Amino acid sequence: MINVLFVCLGNICRSPMAEAIFKEKVRGEGLEAKFLVDSAGTGGWHVGKPPHEGTLDILRENNIKGDGLTARQFSPDDNRFDYIVAMDRSNASDIKEVLREEFHGNVFRLLDLVDESTLSDVPDPYYTGNFQEVYDLIEQGCSQLLSKIKKEHRL
Ligand code: 4NP
Repeated sequence: MINVLFVCLGNICRSPMAEAIFKEKVRGEGLEAKFLVDSAGTGGWHVGKPPHEGTLDILRENNIKGDGLTARQFSPDDNRFDYIVAMDRSNASDIKEVLREEFHGNVFRLLDLVDESTLSDVPDPYYTGNFQEVYDLIEQGCSQLLSKIKKEHRL
């Protein structure tokens, strides 16, 4: 099983969007039996809540399933994931802070995989309100991520 975890701050906007988009891509390639995909937030304010309406709306507009997404907080146990994918620089540094000596190095930012992107951090739509921009960036990042994992695992 290949374990992939997307991480943002609140786990209600960006990382659940990435989880849903990535799962859709995995399903599209018939690889769902090989993957466990999840998301978490470094902050605990929204634990137990469904995603933000803006995230649910944009997933719906793109025919991507957004059900069953519930916010949870990132924890040291999450070091079991093979790929820990941060939405921005501060998420990445918070992740490393939580994992400390358990940190095994496979933490990176989603947009580090997108050569064409001028941004390295996925902007936070909780503050910008721009869910379309975030969707487009995450969509590109998830395509690159799936290619990378397929190569690394010879899928
Ligand atoms: P996210 O956005 O990290 O993309 O889920 C946020 C959601 C909530 C908060 C911050 C960012 N908040 O401060 O409550």
